[in-house]
Amino acid sequence: MQETEPVAFPQDRTCPYHPPTAYDTLRAARPLTRIALFDGRPAWLVSGHATARALLADRRLSTDRTHPDFPAPTARFAAARNRRTALLGVDDPEHQTQRRMMIPAFTLKRATELRPRIQQVVDERLDAMIAQGPPADLVSAFALPVPSTVICALLGVPYADHDFFEGQSRRLLRGPTAADTIDARDQLEAYIGELIDRKQKQSDPGEGVLDELVHQRLRDGELDRQEVISLAVILLVAGHETTANMISLGTYTLLQHPDRLAELRADPALLPTAVEELMRMLSIADGLLRLATEDIEVAGTTIRKGDGVVFATSVINRDEDVYADPDTLDWHRPARHHVGFGFGIHQCLGQNLARAELEIALKTLVDRLPRLRLAAPADEIPFKPGDTIQGMLELPVTW
Ligand code: HEM
Repeated sequence: MQETEPVAFPQDRTCPYHPPTAYDTLRAARPLTRIALFDGRPAWLVSGHATARALLADRRLSTDRTHPDFPAPTARFAAARNRRTALLGVDDPEHQTQRRMMIPAFTLKRATELRPRIQQVVDERLDAMIAQGPPADLVSAFALPVPSTVICALLGVPYADHDFFEGQSRRLLRGPTAADTIDARDQLEAYIGELIDRKQKQSDPGEGVLDELVHQRLRDGELDRQEVISLAVILLVAGHETTANMISLGTYTLLQHPDRLAELRADPALLPTAVEELMRMLSIADGLLRLATEDIEVAGTTIRKGDGVVFATSVINRDEDVYADPDTLDWHRPARHHVGFGFGIHQCLGQNLARAELEIALKTLVDRLPRLRLAAPADEIPFKPGDTIQGMLELPVTW
């Protein structure tokens, strides 16, 4: 174990698609080291790929955020963890029950069936952006509305309310204060609660996931109202914020790698592996959280019951033992085993949908705008701080 001061985690990136340089120490200390969280509390930081996959599959690590020992990366996370989060915040067997109910809506088959609809949404957004520009802010004109529209259609949430739920999701994930986060969560829950009331009064249910939850699971007593609310909130928030960040940061990264972009344009068959490589390289969900419920022997160390465990996906996804020359973007490497969607029982429920959205959004964008480029100096474009999902705050582009 290291003798020096533990590295503070999380930290801001200096380049939006590379881990913070301060994490070099974490890379050097693979597979496991100590970090200090915002309140000075120590936690384990997992940085090695094999150790990460072993631990993420280990049932002795809990995701129950309501536990007082659960590690908190920020003050706002600490303040908001008093209420249970569906799926991501529950352990088996409860987790398995919830996940089984959700799986049919998120299979590869479902995502494939949704492709024409996703293409239509992407085309409409690009038509509107092209009609108004150039220049344009790619985040507000394209990266955010595409996944937001798609998740609304899938869930049965009215897209007309997008300003409200996008704004509250932003506050939930980024504060700035703990009070903002708690208020945003309450507002999102109240909003979904009203939607449930409206849906319960409809004799002819819609086709969204929320309609099914209300007209079957809630009616039959399989889920209570608060569980339905909690499920709908996580699906709505996770379903648009994450993919929006991948589209904006993915585009920025492509524009900063013109050779890779040219290669992709010349051979669109590279697209699926390019999406995996971007997922690996960008690791936008950087810092997955767990609590040890028993002592765990791993990599010659003992993680004690009650210890917090944090997975730095940006560092894990650049493990030289798995990825040669890991800081280089390479469409030809087998990147699939990255942990950008997590691993184990909580591995991203929406990954098939996210992959379909990313492929269609990035391909259509580069096809239709062959002269797409940044409309501001690359190092002046603002991106998100290290304590939330990574992505661009705005992305001025021209074509
Ligand atoms: C590129 C976009 C996305 C990224 C990078 C991403 C990333 C992740 C990661 C890393 C996890 C695991 C967290 C952990 O283990 O602590 C996760 C879980 C989850 N994601 Fe995604 N996600 C994306 C898109 C989506 C979409 C489109 C949805 C759709 C609803 C979604 C819904 C979820 C849910 C519900 C979970 C919790 C699953 C469980 O606990 O069983 N995600 N995601």
